[in-house]
Amino acid sequence: MNFIVLKYERIDSTNTEALDQARRGADEGLCIVAREQTAGRGRHGRTWVSEKDAGLYFSLILRPKLDPQFLPLITLMAAVAVHDALEEMFRIECDIKWVNDIHVNQKKICGILAETSETEKGPAVVVGIGINFKSSNFSPELAATVTAIETEAGAPASTEKFLPVLTAFLEKFCDILYGIDGPRKIREEWTKRSSYAAGKNVRVAIGDEMIYGTTRGIEQNGALRLELQSREIKIIHAGDVEQLREDLLQRHEGHKETV
Ligand code: BTN
Repeated sequence: MNFIVLKYERIDSTNTEALDQARRGADEGLCIVAREQTAGRGRHGRTWVSEKDAGLYFSLILRPKLDPQFLPLITLMAAVAVHDALEEMFRIECDIKWVNDIHVNQKKICGILAETSETEKGPAVVVGIGINFKSSNFSPELAATVTAIETEAGAPASTEKFLPVLTAFLEKFCDILYGIDGPRKIREEWTKRSSYAAGKNVRVAIGDEMIYGTTRGIEQNGALRLELQSREIKIIHAGDVEQLREDLLQRHEGHKETV
């Protein structure tokens, strides 16, 4: 893949810009990076706080050569790439929380937002990656669940130096995904790196519904298999997963709650 990186000082959202560029015909491999985002977007319509030089704000355009049923695996592929790039560059131990949050010491360090658009050149997928580098701007509430590279690595870290490492891993795992038996290989790589893949007691928020259960691997397309207390396997396609304390699981397992 031919990576071209466009760097912006300040932008509304690198994902919005990448989607615009894709609609205007940009090729796979175009990356948008900004020092600051004024309207950074997270999953489920949330805001991604993107202060100047506090994180990496990055979006990559893909024009995937994939059977459409496997498109959701793009986010798993990106999570694997970010996981390995962070471990290699900063020597920090990472985990992947289903489906594509990167955690260090059980706190979120990176979020990924993939968005698709129909374009004249066919469907495009924009993979937006936000990585916290500095934690100085975190409120005490945020600091309870979120962390940053400088905190975990214990030293100042440079987004500039990290970028080529990240793109190299994205290229590696994109090639694997597009190659022979790619979807199976990516599922395998993801499973190896995620403590959430199997046997984890979790609570899943899907809209205003809460479901409790134990993770039992992922489906062909990356959806999460959740075993309820009734032994029924529920397939989760989207939702916020949270690790659960054992006592809470026993109280809730198998039940649905409205929150
Ligand atoms: C999440 O909610 O966990 C996903 C967050 C994704 C944030 C990144 S920052 C770069 C790109 N541009 C955006 O507006 N969002 C993504």
